[in-house]
Amino acid sequence: MRLAVLLSGRGSNFNAIQQAIAAGTLNAEIVCVISNRPGVPGIVRARELGLTVHEIDHKAHSSRLDHEATVLRVLKEAKPDFLVLAGYMRLLSSTFIEEWRHRIINIHPSLLPAFPGVDAQKQAVDYGVKVSGCTVHFVDENLDTGPIIVQRTVEVRDDDTAETLSARILEQEHIAYVSALTLLATRTWRIEGRRVLFE
Ligand code: GRF
Repeated sequence: MRLAVLLSGRGSNFNAIQQAIAAGTLNAEIVCVISNRPGVPGIVRARELGLTVHEIDHKAHSSRLDHEATVLRVLKEAKPDFLVLAGYMRLLSSTFIEEWRHRIINIHPSLLPAFPGVDAQKQAVDYGVKVSGCTVHFVDENLDTGPIIVQRTVEVRDDDTAETLSARILEQEHIAYVSALTLLATRTWRIEGRRVLFE
């Protein structure tokens, strides 16, 4: 399974996936790592690991579509099976999503459909839910709405802040992303309506 990782920052999910591959628990290959922000920690790490890195600065492009066109060119060359969004802070156009339908995967730090969008962990604390977690899902045209592949739960404690909850959710994100990719790599799957079904 060939993976292209797209990130914009820290890259801890990318690291977890890379470590699972290195440990032999996930049978996959990272064919390239793309960042829209040059020099971020995720891209520094990717370079240290000797992976193929593309820093495609959105600020150096005239429009969203122009930036995407460059990303699409790189992807066409790299020929991944899946695009793994790991903290990629760019919205994708519907044309891009259509071209990669059911092959773009994202992770979100809440139990979707609760708390989509930014600051999901703070939204969970502010709302007062007792359980939150993370969701690995396929990307569709709307924000954080695509078919769900894996979810993991995290208890919300009375003394949690957005920061403490984020840290515990992040531990589960790393497990969830590797589990989702392992399922896609090892099992026959199909999508029925909104449901991702594994045989
Ligand atoms: C994670 O919390 C992920 O759920 C969200 O962005 C964050 C990325 O973290 N989409 P990292 O860059 O993988 O450490």
